[in-house]
Amino acid sequence: MFDSEIERPALNSAPSRRVCVIGLGFAGLPTATAVASAGHQTTGLDIDPAKVASINSGRATSGIPAEAIAPLIEQGSLIATTDASAIARADVVLITVPTPIDTEGRPYEVPVERACETVLRHVSDGALIVMQCTVVPGTTRRLLVDPLNAAGRKVGEDIFVAFSPERINPGDPVFNVSNTTKLVAGATEACLERGLEFVASFVSTARPVPSLEAAELAKLVENTFRFINISFVNELAVLCDRFGVNAWDVVEAAASKPFAFMAHFPGPGIGGDCIPVSPRYLMAAAERNGLISEVIPASIRATARMPGHVADRVATLIAERGRLLTGARVMVVGLAYKPDIADTRHSPAVAVIRELESRGAEVLVHDPLATGIIVDGVLRPSVPLDRVWPAGAVGADAAVVLTPHSSIDYAALAGQVGVVLDTRNALGKYGSGRIVSL
Ligand SMILES: NC(=O)c1ccc[n+]([C@@H]2O[C@H](COP(=O)([O-])OP(=O)(O)OC[C@H]3O[C@@H](n4cnc5c(N)ncnc54)[C@H](O)[C@@H]3O)[C@@H](O)[C@H]2O)c1
Repeated sequence: MFDSEIERPALNSAPSRRVCVIGLGFAGLPTATAVASAGHQTTGLDIDPAKVASINSGRATSGIPAEAIAPLIEQGSLIATTDASAIARADVVLITVPTPIDTEGRPYEVPVERACETVLRHVSDGALIVMQCTVVPGTTRRLLVDPLNAAGRKVGEDIFVAFSPERINPGDPVFNVSNTTKLVAGATEACLERGLEFVASFVSTARPVPSLEAAELAKLVENTFRFINISFVNELAVLCDRFGVNAWDVVEAAASKPFAFMAHFPGPGIGGDCIPVSPRYLMAAAERNGLISEVIPASIRATARMPGHVADRVATLIAERGRLLTGARVMVVGLAYKPDIADTRHSPAVAVIRELESRGAEVLVHDPLATGIIVDGVLRPSVPLDRVWPAGAVGADAAVVLTPHSSIDYAALAGQVGVVLDTRNALGKYGSGRIVSL
């Protein structure tokens, strides 16, 4: 069974289910819309009444445009609620609540624990529960399988439990929930069978994994692989600066090898709620099993150095133009953690702003999509690129592009600031001596 992927059956051939999706955020809402679009009667359950109201009135929510939500609400195939009793009417319950880290960088598991307690209180016999959150391996068994068995509801006979991690990549114009292969693991053979059948009803391909823990680990490995590789090239970028070569030239040259190399590129840090968080969950999994990770902490240190490196580069570029960073006007451009989305969670912009200001720079921020960013509890609102600075001057001494949104007018930007540090090497096409990469 484990080497056979399951393709999505023709539309209408899969039976329609009553599905409850718990948590309607950046991962849960795209899943709920994909499930509803596949013909299942879908209820989204969230503890945030404002989000529920926004979805029910067909407005853009959690990065999903109104055009994708409104028709489903109008047809009645998707409805949002704060009422947990909706779980009792569901044939399938999907859990997509947050699994963040606390201020110490350790897994903060209270939301997923609360959501599982709610599910266990309401779920009906015969239902399939699918954990979709990114979790410490062992969590699906600890929070769902063991308590159900202990309560006398035999998993695999009375009720069914699967783990199927969410792989959504917000803002990706090619890959979405429906056309991305989805892993599925079951607590028992019967759970796996039901999990595969349901998941294959709304994604192109469902791929079985032999155990809950293997699938939970696979999700952490996908994200941690990316974190470690980006951290490696971040370290390379600092080294390349010392050699006076461009890190992108080095990676692109290495990537001409047709096997055993995958290109990753540097930047000012690693943001978002997934890539910087999963390595912490993997480290916690290792610690809970008596192992100390060597590679992950080194990667975290390498990437934590980048905001300081960005500030060093700005200071050098400004010095080359006869000024000091102290008292210089610096525009930080691109606050979201990646291009063409508005999400600023764990954005490296925060550390870059702190670093520049700690060296005496006057910083304003701009993002065409995010309304601003919170730094040490204070909202920094996004200002127009041609903003007149408090000192009365027009234009900054330097701009630092952290996230190259496609809607930014880079030509105008380069025209009105002394120098642009492009930390993503994305602006080559606007080329002028005043655009410099990291
Ligand atoms: N955001 C992504 O790109 C992404 C990608 C892959 C996987 N994931 C994973 O998906 C999970 C959800 O992440 P997210 O980014 O959607 O989070 P999010 O913060 O965007 O949304 C979570 C939603 O869950 C709701 N919620 C919290 N506790 C609840 C409860 N007990 N009952 C009902 N609703 C509750 C919140 O109000 C919020 O609307 C996490 O495990 C995350 O790691 C996220």
